[in-house]
Amino acid sequence: MARELTEIIKNRYNRTALFYDWMDRMISGDWRRRVWQEARGRVLEVGVGTGANFPFYPPECRVTAIDFSPGMLARARQKLQMAPAPVDLIEMDVQHLEFEDASFDTVVATCVFCTVPDPVQGLKEVRRVCRPEGRIVLLEHVRSEHWFFGPVMDALNPLVLYLIGSNINRRTVANVRMAGIEIEREEDLAAKIVKLIIGHPGGI
Ligand SMILES: C[S@@+](CC[C@H](N)C(=O)[O-])C[C@H]1O[C@@H](n2cnc3c(N)ncnc32)[C@H](O)[C@@H]1O
Repeated sequence: MARELTEIIKNRYNRTALFYDWMDRMISGDWRRRVWQEARGRVLEVGVGTGANFPFYPPECRVTAIDFSPGMLARARQKLQMAPAPVDLIEMDVQHLEFEDASFDTVVATCVFCTVPDPVQGLKEVRRVCRPEGRIVLLEHVRSEHWFFGPVMDALNPLVLYLIGSNINRRTVANVRMAGIEIEREEDLAAKIVKLIIGHPGGI
């Protein structure tokens, strides 16, 4: 069942790749800049999508960027020249990362754990491959805790999930904690729905 769901979401993103760059305008460049200010050393970008973060990569980093959707990766490949840092693009599922433990100084994901079929499993993998003294930097939209907007997001979620493969009602901060990641800082960037979450792997 988990494998089937992964295939369904992957295929949805292969379709979403056709119009993702238009949709992506909802994510501000300022937010992306803030995320990448936190990156150091050897970096893993999870769910690179069509490469919207490429222009923000710090030139002194070396980036490995993964995504499970060949359609999204094909678009990213066309934009590689926008990255000021060296990038290895690899097709891979964050729920089963093919890297050794503690391989990266920083792991970054922007708007990814709203889509990963088993987000806690994906976040556990992120924690595993990040060095114990490394940093995990996430930009995520989450379910609103507002009495009206929260239930509206729940009601709309099946439609959004069907159309683009993304959930708008994930409780990602709780999922991050459930995966064992220790949160150092959590910043509300917009309406308590868009969050910058900075953490580290904690005691493994
Ligand atoms: C909403 S897009 C965000 C793309 C990019 N990070 C950005 O900020 O524009 C979510 C991305 O996560 C990828 N993704 C979802 N689940 C994944 C998984 N299990 N493993 C790897 N990539 C995944 C999707 O294919 C898609 O490219």
